[in-house]
Amino acid sequence: MKRKKALKVAAEKLPKKRFKHSERVAETAVKMAEIFNADKEKCFLAGILHDYSKYDELSKMYQTVTTEKLDPELLQYKTEVLHGPIAAVKMKNKFDITDEEILNAIAHHTSGRKQMGIIEKIIFVADYIEPKRSQPGVDDIRDIVFGENNLDLAVYSITKANIRHLLNKDSTIYHKTLECLNYYNMARE
Ligand SMILES: [Fe+2]
Ligand SMILES: [Fe+2]
Repeated sequence: MKRKKALKVAAEKLPKKRFKHSERVAETAVKMAEIFNADKEKCFLAGILHDYSKYDELSKMYQTVTTEKLDPELLQYKTEVLHGPIAAVKMKNKFDITDEEILNAIAHHTSGRKQMGIIEKIIFVADYIEPKRSQPGVDDIRDIVFGENNLDLAVYSITKANIRHLLNKDSTIYHKTLECLNYYNMARE
């Protein structure tokens, strides 16, 4: 898929605010691609499309988990986790995106996982630090990325903050997120 088509696909599907966020994620990801020597086109496409399924109906998402034989554990979670893997399936089935790096980046932006590829890590981090994000600690992550150029440490720090937040709400934590924390804790140095 080309940039123009991806922009159209996202713009037609998403509410304006979410589309604007997706544009900022794509731009941030392209900027990061320069620093970390990644493919800019893949970063742009994954960024603009990552939230495609954000507002899909939950019951339909669960159907897709079953019909596409996705991780059945996903049935224990809601859209916060599901919209990544579901969007990746849609990109593959509906829009013929076959690039595994793009599909993995879209699929795992909601959970992270161990041993992520470069595009996956960039989208995961860009989603958290795009310029309009203002959550506590976000500037520290921006420094880790644009100052220290330490992508793995950014993944670890974001995952730690996400898990803290989930624990404070007594939420259950998807196993891929826990594996992400443990893996990037080791990769930290
Ligand atoms: Fe998302
Ligand atoms: Fe997002």
